[in-house]
Amino acid sequence: MNTEKGFIFDLDGVIVDTARFHYLAWKKAAAEFNFELTHEQNEQLKGVSRVDSLKKILNWANANVSKEKFDELAANKNADYLTYVEKMTEADILPGVKEILAEIKAANYPIALGSASKNAPTILEKVGIMDMFDAIVDGNSVSKAKPDPEVFLIAAKQLNVAPENCIVFEDAEAGIAAANSAQMISIGLGNEQNLKEADYNFSSFTEITFNFLKQLQPK
Ligand code: BG6
Ligand code: MG
Repeated sequence: MNTEKGFIFDLDGVIVDTARFHYLAWKKAAAEFNFELTHEQNEQLKGVSRVDSLKKILNWANANVSKEKFDELAANKNADYLTYVEKMTEADILPGVKEILAEIKAANYPIALGSASKNAPTILEKVGIMDMFDAIVDGNSVSKAKPDPEVFLIAAKQLNVAPENCIVFEDAEAGIAAANSAQMISIGLGNEQNLKEADYNFSSFTEITFNFLKQLQPK
């Protein structure tokens, strides 16, 4: 393994476009307390853990629920979300992702997943790319959510690569902040306006060449 560099991928919004499924499921959950979740609010839930997402929605709705009801809402949201995940296939992988994963792998650099999602292994299995990853760090293995760097630092450790030699792909502001505070090279994917703190910005993996990644140096 060439540990001069390590590559860490976020999942939702980077490898697969699951934000729309999270949105549909949260909308249904919020309707239970008569709140209509907007698309703009959903944008603010990107990269945010399940529990913190529900806390934010309840806050926007000015709603208070018991601990029991909170757990029930979160569990129902996830069950609903999983009905969409169930239908996912390889075709749901975002453009350019498989190609870049293959090039990184061919050059023998290690690859990790660094995601807030507890459903990460299920999704990677569904879309058939689990075997591309040397380490999976997800919502089941971290205690501090992004923007805390914990998820990426654990991933770097598992890859045996120094944090400053790691390159992180992220679509969420909190994820870019986490990568920057881990001293890693951050690459923002998607809306550049929301990802101003990223070291580099691209709208999609189809714009990123392996030669560009190979020449990146610690900042
Ligand atoms: C992040 C998503 O990757 O994972 C968030 O961007 C989601 O929308 C979070 O809330 C937690 O995911 P899950 O699958 O454990 O509910
Ligand atoms: Mg994301």
